[in-house]
Amino acid sequence: MSAQLPTGTQADELASAARVDPGGARQTVAIRATGAYTPEKVLTNNELTHLVDTSDEWIVSRTGIRERRIAAPDETAADMAVQAGARAIEKAGLSPADIDLVIVATITPDMPFPSTACLVQTRLGMRNICAFDVEAACSGFIYITEIATAMLQSGRFRHALIIGTEKLSSILDWNDRSTCVLFGDGAGAAVLSRGEQHGNGSLSVLDTRLGADGAASNILYMPGGGSRIPASAESLAAGHHFLKMNGREVFKIAIRIMEQATRDILARNDVPLDRVACIIPHQANSRIIEMLSERMQVPMDRFHINLDRLGNTSAASVPLALDEVLAQGKIASGEYAVLVAFGAGLTWGATLLRG
Ligand code: ACO
Repeated sequence: MSAQLPTGTQADELASAARVDPGGARQTVAIRATGAYTPEKVLTNNELTHLVDTSDEWIVSRTGIRERRIAAPDETAADMAVQAGARAIEKAGLSPADIDLVIVATITPDMPFPSTACLVQTRLGMRNICAFDVEAACSGFIYITEIATAMLQSGRFRHALIIGTEKLSSILDWNDRSTCVLFGDGAGAAVLSRGEQHGNGSLSVLDTRLGADGAASNILYMPGGGSRIPASAESLAAGHHFLKMNGREVFKIAIRIMEQATRDILARNDVPLDRVACIIPHQANSRIIEMLSERMQVPMDRFHINLDRLGNTSAASVPLALDEVLAQGKIASGEYAVLVAFGAGLTWGATLLRG
């Protein structure tokens, strides 16, 4: 008899069954603390008008962005990740020696290899522990939340440091007004621990749903620097090492995907939308978030927004926003929150948390 693929519901049951440890006790995983780092330099919309033909009015009305942070020339994705990671570990009341897993999400690693996670691991004084990068663009932090949760639930790891870090300024074409006004630099981190309960400032990671559609890979990408177009004088001259985006297409798909991912994660956990205290969306464009609010009938004050100050920081966007949400005490004990993102790939994901 030929093997049959599981249906959607069976796949969900298999996924939750996989979260049961060999002893039978369900392993809870919680975000114990977060940490954030943004570079000192602020680049305002008005300053951008000296670089490209744009205006503060155009950028604010189309995106909601007023300013973004830009890393120093010698400051890298790993440098920012180290800062955010160290803060998260300290806030968690742990020391680097307690961490046994480091995962970094980034599309702007310090270099193609070794991984940024390995660079961060040694800089934080950790030795001989599992460290690797994940590339899922703006959904990266949701992807690494799911990966870390599953690895912790396996029983083999106890405390994970997960970090989204980006130096997007290093892959922007500063002559292209349609992209350079949108992005910024920064890093956000979280410490996830097994056996932690929600409450006392920790957030239980209840569930994550991930997806991707590679058929849409051509609407947001960087063509150069890989095996298809290795670096050469010609590839540099052609601008292949810059981010390319079909903004309109991304915009349309983003709204649909963010709504679906949020509704799916709530439905599969029987959590009604009105019990969600805070939705923490990827910070790409305030119009996307406003349309999401309208379509889902969720008031805007339940969405956390910091893109006006930080722009789109890709994999760093969700953890930077989560760090602010926790600092502002927006998720009380027992309340639910949703992280939701989409990004190049296209990738998407949503995580359900409980305070
Ligand atoms: N200043 C002034 N004019 C501009 C600018 C600018 N910065 N950028 C583009 N324009 C012009 C265009 O040239 C065009 O002019 P034309 O009509 O004369 O040709 C006009 O404005 C309209 O351009 P559109 O691209 O149609 O503008 P739109 O309203 O779609 O807004 C935007 C563009 C802001 C990029 C929007 O499409 C968007 O936010 N898309 C989603 C992007 C996104 O979410 N990316 C996240 C993923 S990032 C990741 O995963 C790494």
